[in-house]
Amino acid sequence: MSTTEIVAAAGVSESNSRQVPAGAFSSRLAFVLAAAGSAVGLGNVWKFPYIAGENGGGAFVLVYLVCVAVLGLPILMAEIAIGRRGGHDPARAMRRVAEANARSPAWSRVGLVAVIASFLLLGLYSVIAGWALGYTAFAASGRLSAAADAGWVFESLLASPSWLIGLHSVFLVLTIAIVARGVREGIERAARVMMPLLFALLRAIVAFAAVTTGTFVEAATFLLAPDFSRLTPSAVLEALGHSFFTLSVGFGVMMAYGSYLPKPGQAGRAAVAVAAIDTGVALIAGLAIFPFVFAQGLEPSAGPGLIFVTLPAAFAAMPAGTVLATTFFAFLVLAALTSSISILEPITEHLARRLQIPRVAAASLAGFGAWLLGIGVALSLNVGSEVRVFGRSFFDALDFLVSNVLLPCGGLAIAVFAGWRMSRRTAEAELGFGSGRAFALWRFAVRYVAPIGVAAVLLHGL
Ligand code: PHE
Repeated sequence: MSTTEIVAAAGVSESNSRQVPAGAFSSRLAFVLAAAGSAVGLGNVWKFPYIAGENGGGAFVLVYLVCVAVLGLPILMAEIAIGRRGGHDPARAMRRVAEANARSPAWSRVGLVAVIASFLLLGLYSVIAGWALGYTAFAASGRLSAAADAGWVFESLLASPSWLIGLHSVFLVLTIAIVARGVREGIERAARVMMPLLFALLRAIVAFAAVTTGTFVEAATFLLAPDFSRLTPSAVLEALGHSFFTLSVGFGVMMAYGSYLPKPGQAGRAAVAVAAIDTGVALIAGLAIFPFVFAQGLEPSAGPGLIFVTLPAAFAAMPAGTVLATTFFAFLVLAALTSSISILEPITEHLARRLQIPRVAAASLAGFGAWLLGIGVALSLNVGSEVRVFGRSFFDALDFLVSNVLLPCGGLAIAVFAGWRMSRRTAEAELGFGSGRAFALWRFAVRYVAPIGVAAVLLHGL
């Protein structure tokens, strides 16, 4: 008898007998790579170093680490567990898990808001990722190191609608092309190729910094030795908000990825691995950036321009500056791309289900919408900078809405749902910690610690 006949005789159709369904990652490792790809992004390489720099280093970093461990990580676990249990599209996942636990189907709105938040984020994210793409090209062509004034390059880029829109378009097309190919062929494959490359580039840059700058210890001290006199209350809240963003929590992204985990009982350990990689990359990125900054006697507190102005100036003064800058910005592009595909994923699943259209069409439609939004974002940096939305430029208004309103609201709702509305049995089965101490800690965190912490961020942000 052939395998097919045996399977048929056993009363299982061939497709059902497959170990892993088509719309799933092939293993937990694949999930961890893809989810770490989502987590490691502009947040780690662009934002973390500059907010650490602005807030004086070590003490801020310590608070950030605590926030990741006690707030971000438990909610990350919750999101993955809900997604695993409920399905690909966050709105549907929330509804299914709610109904299975005899709760109101209106919880699906939390998933819907998360999908909308992802969409808005994608419009912003791909514009900033476009800067990284542009910088890779400028660096490779030698223009970056030849420029007498690194600030001028950044200002000219932001002042040019055509550059901004062109780069943003290229970046989104890449994102759509990967997502449209599906979970296994698109997202998993991309993660398997890009993540090892990303780690290799980061290793190379840190090694170079350690060997050539002579300021590595100074940088490590700045990042790791806490000076609590420099810590302000608003820095604490900024660390808290960033701990969510950097773990990709609150946007339904980890729900969508979690739904592709092949088996239950893995959400807990997988989340720990993702958080460890994400934190490791943020710290190492700091150790890759600050030695160059200090070696040239530059300030670590330059704000958003730290890696686009300060760092290129430092690179230009180094031997092999062109190679170094190209490597760094290519690394940044990879980090951004593995994140942007994850941001597009829940929107794609949602549209495909809602409109009953194929995945390719859904990814293209969502991407097109984000492209239009991104054009607005790009123009608000130059010709449209006078246009005010609630007293801010469009860029700042959107950033405020996404980071200060929707992200904490999403995180809060997910924590409350997981802690108070999802049954203990469901959570235990998905997290895979058993029912002992680790589980009790998780439950305490999502029930009490996270809601209080997030509420504080929300109030501060508003
Ligand atoms: N975590 C990503 C970063 O650090 C950003 C992100 C947020 C990705 C939310 C997906 C969802 O850049």
